[in-house]
Amino acid sequence: MISTERELHALSPRATPRWAQIARRLARATRAAWRLRELRHLTRPEQSIEEIVDAVFTFSGGFFVPLQIKSEVVAFLRMVEQARPKAVIEIGTARGGTLFLLSRVAAPDATIISVDLPGGPWGGGYSYARVPFYRAFRWASQKFHFVRADSHQIRSLDRVRKLLPDGQCDLCLIDGDHSYEGAKQDFAMYGSLVRSAGLVAFHDIVKHATRYRAGVDRLWAELKLAHRHVELVEDWGQGSCGIGVVIRD
Ligand SMILES: C[S@@+](CC[C@H](N)C(=O)[O-])C[C@H]1O[C@@H](n2cnc3c(N)ncnc32)[C@H](O)[C@@H]1O
Repeated sequence: MISTERELHALSPRATPRWAQIARRLARATRAAWRLRELRHLTRPEQSIEEIVDAVFTFSGGFFVPLQIKSEVVAFLRMVEQARPKAVIEIGTARGGTLFLLSRVAAPDATIISVDLPGGPWGGGYSYARVPFYRAFRWASQKFHFVRADSHQIRSLDRVRKLLPDGQCDLCLIDGDHSYEGAKQDFAMYGSLVRSAGLVAFHDIVKHATRYRAGVDRLWAELKLAHRHVELVEDWGQGSCGIGVVIRD
């Protein structure tokens, strides 16, 4: 219960002055930068996938927290590790959690491309200030690229294609625009870059609680009829999340 005017003020989005928000963000980023080595040193097979996932979930107050269910992302990473992809596209990076995790199970010389729309729905993208943090994850011989743009623009697709060493990739994770039409368009555009036997993964194949108005579950229901696939879902009644993986013919 709110009992004082001060408590009421604290709940208002305008309560914290801009300078204080910036100072807080700077302090968080400094703390994260200071501890980054703890994450960089996590490698396979020295650490288990569970240990690596736990570490990124809890790192520096959730600085890179993945927007995932742990058991699902662990199962997904196991599958990806078997494929050891050399070229990866991630549509929807947000705080960088899955980007970090993918870098741990991809090939040591993989090219990994993040496509994310600044201020985009379902996570808000990331600012330029975060790019050096994301770059700091990678192994010396991995290449990271950041396309901060709408995945649906043909220009974004062209940029991604040019960044791929041979114009194709082994894995594409679609976790950006969660509408039926948006995810379908991502599949049509970026799925076409995935080589035969490569993987196209979708996050949020579980029907969302109605207030979120996502449509990946509807798209998934269609795709699973037409493609070889794997479903990694903790509980079909959980109201969001779930990972579906299409294996390209
Ligand atoms: C749910 S978050 C991604 C979470 C991340 N994969 C993880 O698990 O940690 C979704 C991201 O997609 C981005 N996004 C939404 N629509 C997009 C679009 N049309 N193009 C590119 N990115 C988009 C948002 O900016 C947001 O950062």
